[in-house]
Amino acid sequence: MSTEEEKIRQLKEERDAVILAHYYVPDEVQAVADYIGDSYGLAKIATTLPQKTICFAGVTFMSESAKILNPDKTVLVPEPMADCPMAHMVEPEDIEAVRGQYEDLAVVCYINSTAEIKKYCDVIVTSSNALKIVSKLPQKNIYFIPDENLGRYIASQLPEKHFIFNEGFCHVHTSITKENVERAKAAHPGLKVLAHPECKADVLAQADYIGSTSGIIKYATESEDQAFLICTELGVLYDLRRKNPGKQFYSVGHRQFCPNMKRITLNKIIKSLETMAPAMEIDAASREKAAAPLKKMLALAE
Ligand code: 13P
Ligand code: SF4
Repeated sequence: MSTEEEKIRQLKEERDAVILAHYYVPDEVQAVADYIGDSYGLAKIATTLPQKTICFAGVTFMSESAKILNPDKTVLVPEPMADCPMAHMVEPEDIEAVRGQYEDLAVVCYINSTAEIKKYCDVIVTSSNALKIVSKLPQKNIYFIPDENLGRYIASQLPEKHFIFNEGFCHVHTSITKENVERAKAAHPGLKVLAHPECKADVLAQADYIGSTSGIIKYATESEDQAFLICTELGVLYDLRRKNPGKQFYSVGHRQFCPNMKRITLNKIIKSLETMAPAMEIDAASREKAAAPLKKMLALAE
């Protein structure tokens, strides 16, 4: 065990803390986490933990969601600058404008959004539960925010619904091009393409499997194939290789790297546990409003 790992182990005990990490944070951070997971898995597990403190190794919308769902816990944010740009790609006024146009409307919001935006939405979804949740909604019209690519993918699976999209995107996933995939397939003939639904439609059209980070890991782990082409952020390689030591995984693009997730370091985790700061704070009124669509997600995803 390294000095940092030993220090973190001690601090977790002293602070009654648990570390949650997303699959995109650096390998050494995933290695010290008590739980690693996709956005839905982490939001859900956070509601079941006995510890008083959650140290969240992920981008801001993840620690915000953990605080909204667990207001009595201290949620530490090891690096407050680790923010997802997509979370800011829609405004409350956009929602107000679309609500004014449709009576029978559900505002469906990807969890990659700010707490402020969540206040105005009907239900939150993640890439692993969006299809299930939207298909259960009684409304015909779905305003899907902020990610247009995930929205269009869900719309393609639910032709009975009418979707209105927002022009949000993930710069990491949209950096993967159709040509990248074509070249990777030519270089590694016969390999299956596993893609995250934040990728563009022309990339998804070439995928053999489309799913969340945990979906991709599960698919590759359960498959008898021995090698795969991976269309998501490359932090997933840590768990893919751990679970599948004999299998090969190839990236397809040149920028499958989320700079914000990579801002989380072991030293920042140590510092946050030592000082118990910074901690996520959200005023009670905002928290209550944002909790309603998050709780609806947890109920509908069951
Ligand atoms: P999931 O881990 O839920 O698939 O989300 C990917 C992502 O981009 C998180 O920011
Ligand atoms: Fe946001 Fe994309 Fe990074 Fe996920 S990978 S946190 S969607 S920028």
